[in-house]
Amino acid sequence: MAAQTVASTTESTVDLGPAAALSCRECGHRVPLGPVFACEECFGPLEIAYDFSAYDTEELRKRIEAGPANIWRYAPLLPVPADVADKPNINPGWTALVKADNLARELGVDAGKLFVKDDSGNPTHSFKDRVVAQALEAARAFGFTTLSCSSTGNLAGAVGAAAARAGFRSCVFIPHDLEQGKVVMAAIYGGELVGIEGNYDDVNRFCSELIGDPAGEGWGFVNVNLRPYYAEGSKTLAYEICEQLGWRLPDQLVVPIASGSQLTKIDKGLQELIKLGLVEDKPYKIFGAQALGCSPVSTAFKAGHDVVRPQKPDTIAKSLAIGNPADGPYVLDIARRTGGAVEDVTDEQVVEAIKLLARTEGVFAETAGGVTVGVTKKLIESGTLDPSKTTVVLNTGDGLKTLDAVAGTGLTATIRPSLDSFREAGLV
Ligand SMILES: Cc1ncc(COP(=O)(O)O)c(C=O)c1O
Ligand SMILES: [Zn+2]
Repeated sequence: MAAQTVASTTESTVDLGPAAALSCRECGHRVPLGPVFACEECFGPLEIAYDFSAYDTEELRKRIEAGPANIWRYAPLLPVPADVADKPNINPGWTALVKADNLARELGVDAGKLFVKDDSGNPTHSFKDRVVAQALEAARAFGFTTLSCSSTGNLAGAVGAAAARAGFRSCVFIPHDLEQGKVVMAAIYGGELVGIEGNYDDVNRFCSELIGDPAGEGWGFVNVNLRPYYAEGSKTLAYEICEQLGWRLPDQLVVPIASGSQLTKIDKGLQELIKLGLVEDKPYKIFGAQALGCSPVSTAFKAGHDVVRPQKPDTIAKSLAIGNPADGPYVLDIARRTGGAVEDVTDEQVVEAIKLLARTEGVFAETAGGVTVGVTKKLIESGTLDPSKTTVVLNTGDGLKTLDAVAGTGLTATIRPSLDSFREAGLV
């Protein structure tokens, strides 16, 4: 099927479970499910519209709780077929919600109130496995055989792994100068990995051109023509956090921002749980986190602007280095509507925060996790985040992929294999 096909009937013919159609976020125009991402009326982003009308709250809760220990326990709320758990996929999710009492003590948060959702525990060690698992099901439904993406690093690895498991070809595009851990991770699964001379925004522009060219025909770009499906994977973070809190909403969440997709879908997931009656209807605040060296959304938030002015990224938090974030304006809406904020931290604060989280909770975060922990600290110090309320901070990736950020961390001492030498080293 051609990548840019717009289906012409009004009925969806593929089976993606409760997904009924695509609907424009701006004007509400509906089209059938297909590999399209922009509204033909107003160019607004298309989102999945669901039919959840048949669900009984208690039956749904029981069905979820009896489901597998991965994102497919939420299949009734996702654009996937009912038998999704039987298909070859990377089956991410159900990652640890770490009760972070040591970190809470350091940050002045009340005991029992601070949690880290640790998504480094996914198959390719980042939250991107959640979104790719959804995109893969859509690609299968639409008959694609090649998976592709533009990536700041983590997505490329997730696509490579999912394609390998499901027997798809993959060809993914990254900025040429990414961290070695991300490059190896993206290449190891045997797909094609192309470095582009430029930053992520250049990679993304290239992919938009490729998608309209015969060279890209028949390719499922997970974050372009499959974006409406892909994006829904981030809702599972919201579902898991609430279920792991005993079907309760947290009061505050701190979420990293690159394109902003994850943050907007976490909000969508929380809203769905409220509407379905799975959690009580009470306010929550969403805080966005960026690195100062790529902070187009926090800059707009602080200036009170509705539009996000693109920036040229320069930060060690490369996974978040998107200078022109597609969902930036929606992130601003959500932060303002919920009473949250968008804040940024310097690269030095990112490194300090990576070390703080590791030292207090035994969680080794990649730079994106350093951004969220660093921003949490800053928001507490400024009195913006309430330390007496239940707060969930996201760690979306694994520190082993960004070792350069903590270069210099290593041996305490080198000794001869003798007790004398150990004593001489001054460690007893
Ligand atoms: C580790 C990590 N965290 C967070 C994000 C942000 O995702 P989004 O583009 O949905 O804002 C990314 C994006 O690449 C990422 O790699
Ligand atoms: Zn529209």
